[in-house]
Amino acid sequence: MKTVLVTGGLGFIGSHTAVELLARGYQVVVADNLANTNASVLDGIAAIAGKKPVWANVDLADPVACRAFLAGMPDLAGIIHFAAYKAVGESVQKPLAYYRNNFGSLVNLLEFTAEHPQCRLIFSSSCTVYGQADTLPIREDAPVKPAESPYGNTKQVGEEILRDGARAHGFRAIALRYFNPIGAHPSAKIGELPLGVPQNLVPFITQSAAGLRGALKVFGNDYPTRDGTCVRDYIHVVDVALAHIYALERLFAGKGSEPVEVFNLGTGTGSTVLEVIKAFERSTGHKLQWEFAERRAGDVIAAYANTEKAAQGLGWRAERSLDQCMADAWRWQQTLPKK
Ligand code: WQD
Repeated sequence: MKTVLVTGGLGFIGSHTAVELLARGYQVVVADNLANTNASVLDGIAAIAGKKPVWANVDLADPVACRAFLAGMPDLAGIIHFAAYKAVGESVQKPLAYYRNNFGSLVNLLEFTAEHPQCRLIFSSSCTVYGQADTLPIREDAPVKPAESPYGNTKQVGEEILRDGARAHGFRAIALRYFNPIGAHPSAKIGELPLGVPQNLVPFITQSAAGLRGALKVFGNDYPTRDGTCVRDYIHVVDVALAHIYALERLFAGKGSEPVEVFNLGTGTGSTVLEVIKAFERSTGHKLQWEFAERRAGDVIAAYANTEKAAQGLGWRAERSLDQCMADAWRWQQTLPKK
């Protein structure tokens, strides 16, 4: 069976993808230096999949370490590249660390695929490349807008590095533009592990409901939307993980005409912040404490995906509802330490 490397495989989307790869009989190697997670996630993956992936604690941004690590896997069939720093706010404080880490690791991996073009690569991109799109739902051919943060820039330039590398070296890749991945595996054995105060909406909601945080602050209630709060496309992390399997198998089958293809990963439905709060309360029976606060700098008003290209090209659609996302997120939160 094929061996697939999952970089950042102990992270949120990476761990859920490792589970789905193992379930389909792939040999899975996880590369993760624990920069933003902890080793216990490996046990969670094993508990669900019934077998443990090989784990390499390697800094992929180190060219010597990365090359030595990959030299041991000359027949690698695929790389799913999640490993990257991803906090929007932190990227503004530490842009050079973000560029060194996110571009360094990507270039090191692409030097391997340039020498081993049978190895197909999937790149974690983000809807953040669209900024505030002019047309909703957002199609993949919507114009890429100037990045609002160094994090967003690493996704935009990362896609360009992919395209330039594929054109020069003949390898094949797919970039997946995530909208807002949320939720957790229904087994509650893996989920999101935000370190520090959660910047994202759903982990803050579940931590607030668990008594770990104060009331949720809703950033802005005067946006031109149906209830004045921002709209996003919240997609279950298991749906996102499954899309990676479909994308990898598209690459293995040699489908697609371009060296690098781009697909949106969303549900196609936008939900406001207040609707997410209501979905949490409806699906968990838990009353959430929240209050309106000032708008957050950099927030776009609305973003949700046009899902047709992914449906046609990947044969994939998101299937899980917002209520299921919130129920799964809450079940996971209840397994975490209470302080
Ligand atoms: C969603 C909505 C906030 C927290 C970012 C990145 C994206 C990806 C996901 C990495 C917004 C509101 C939030 C809170 C709130 N990151 N909110 N109170 O900003 O859409 O996307 O995270 O892969 O690339 O850009 O997600 O969850 O931070 O915010 O009101 O305490 O919730 O204003 O409208 P976002 P988010």
